[in-house]
Amino acid sequence: MSSDSFIACLPLLLRRKTQESMTNRTFTMIKPDATAKGHTGAILDQIIKAGFSIKAMKWTRLTTEQAGEFYAVHKERPFYGELVDFMSSGPIVAAILEKDNAVADFRKLIGATDPAKADDGTIRKLFAASVGENAVHGSDSDENAQIEGSFFFSGLERF
Ligand code: RTP
Ligand code: MG
Repeated sequence: MSSDSFIACLPLLLRRKTQESMTNRTFTMIKPDATAKGHTGAILDQIIKAGFSIKAMKWTRLTTEQAGEFYAVHKERPFYGELVDFMSSGPIVAAILEKDNAVADFRKLIGATDPAKADDGTIRKLFAASVGENAVHGSDSDENAQIEGSFFFSGLERF
């Protein structure tokens, strides 16, 4: 291939690479209940043992405004105020994770929203106390994984 035609192909190659990496990535937060109880290391261990690799990670704390924006999709739900207060109540760990079928596999690994209904061995079954304070967040679609990852990380902070 001539160098001119290689350069002409570059936009297509880059676009394909971006699409591929999106479907292999998800976004997670270890929530304030889990960081407060000292479960951060054990949860990260479960995530890595399940085959996810960490592409970006930070320990931070959300303001109420940031928590409200992150969970804006739930604005009309009765638990929204409680959710925003809880998610801004202490430190969280935000991370971008990579694995084949990342979104669906990660939702399986964390278990049902209500830990009482979560399968044995899931992160929420092991570490969560209630439906409101349920230890971890996992993106629910490739599109939201991309949006949520960009909420926390600039291009320079992810690999
Ligand atoms: P997440 O977004 O945090 O991964 O949780 P999810 O998909 O399993 O559940 P979702 O319906 O998106 O709800 C978001 C978070 O809101 C809190 N919640 N509280 N009190 C309640 O009935 C209630 N329902 C949901 C939970 O923290 C849930 O993870
Ligand atoms: Mg959700």
